[in-house]
Amino acid sequence: MAYQADANRYKKTNYRRCGNSGIKLPLISLGLWHNFGEIDDYENCRNILHTAFDNGITHFDLANNYGPPAGAAESTFGKIFKQDFKSYRDELIISSKAGYFMWDGPYGDWGSKKYLVASLDQSLKRMGLEYVDIFYHHRPDPETPLEETMTALDLIVRQGKALYVGISSYQPHEAKKAIDMLRQLGTPCLIVQPRYSMFDRWVEDGLLDVLEKEKVGCITFSSLAQGLLTNKYLKGIPEDSRIGRHLENGAITASQITDATISKVKQLNKIAENRNQSLAQMALAWVLKDERITSVILGASKAKQVTEGIEAAKNTNFNKEELHKIEFILRQ
Ligand SMILES: NC(=O)c1ccc[n+]([C@@H]2O[C@H](COP(=O)([O-])OP(=O)(O)OC[C@H]3O[C@@H](n4cnc5c(N)ncnc54)[C@H](OP(=O)(O)O)[C@@H]3O)[C@@H](O)[C@H]2O)c1
Repeated sequence: MAYQADANRYKKTNYRRCGNSGIKLPLISLGLWHNFGEIDDYENCRNILHTAFDNGITHFDLANNYGPPAGAAESTFGKIFKQDFKSYRDELIISSKAGYFMWDGPYGDWGSKKYLVASLDQSLKRMGLEYVDIFYHHRPDPETPLEETMTALDLIVRQGKALYVGISSYQPHEAKKAIDMLRQLGTPCLIVQPRYSMFDRWVEDGLLDVLEKEKVGCITFSSLAQGLLTNKYLKGIPEDSRIGRHLENGAITASQITDATISKVKQLNKIAENRNQSLAQMALAWVLKDERITSVILGASKAKQVTEGIEAAKNTNFNKEELHKIEFILRQ
């Protein structure tokens, strides 16, 4: 059946300005790292994307290597885009990245101009797009001069293959250098994409300060710690969960479910209940309470996780007592 987007979608969530750019992003964005590979059910993928867009999620985050196998998430997205979203192209912010291993030989990994330009060409083909809205360098490359990587991002924008650029997983001092270089090149850095959750707070030690000062946006990933910061692992490991499916490529594994972690999750779950939120919603809201965070990229294996996540944006305020209790639990 032809997809028709919900006419009320833009009343369902809020949008935050990304740094000092012209772009606003929904508080919750959708990521396609997992659940959109060849092993995943196509109709379920479609349903997740429809549900997201129907709820005002205008931003879909991809990368060259998402799958499995690498490239498959972009291919799945391309198929769904052609089938359902073509007429909505101008309402979407679609991002991709390059920086991790993609193909054999010296030009299929890290941060050379050769790799970034070729990889984006491949991504555009897989997704059936003329351009992406945001193209990221996916991780810092200790060997390639930063000038070369940033010049590649600038070139890609000048070629019309991306409208904006960003960087991911850069440390504060590296991010500052990259932001300065891009500004000098005339292609300002739109956004930085770090991991940030109640369980992983490294961005609080400098990165957020740099982004605030430089007026660059911030979009976070794994803010549910890949599902740990939900109630799903409280009674064992469900077979259809990310851990239960034994996925590779950085996916969370059973070894991360320790007694200490589950004890924290149980205590956090109680606070969430008192706020009339699920733990997943509270975990997303906790990240969004900081106005320097433009958006959180949510991963979802089911459409109902998207509807649950989007509700989180309705209450991102925490009182002093809640914050104090959460700090106490996280420091145990
Ligand atoms: N830049 C980078 O290096 C980088 C790295 C990683 C991710 N990312 C981006 O960030 C996105 C999100 O990352 P992530 O998938 O690790 O994020 P996440 O949001 O921490 O975890 C997503 C997983 O949590 C579970 N989940 C979601 N909502 C739930 C709910 N309401 N109740 C119970 N479980 C729920 C689902 O797992 P189940 O399968 O168990 O249902 C879902 O797949 C990625 O898709 C990607 O776009 C970027």
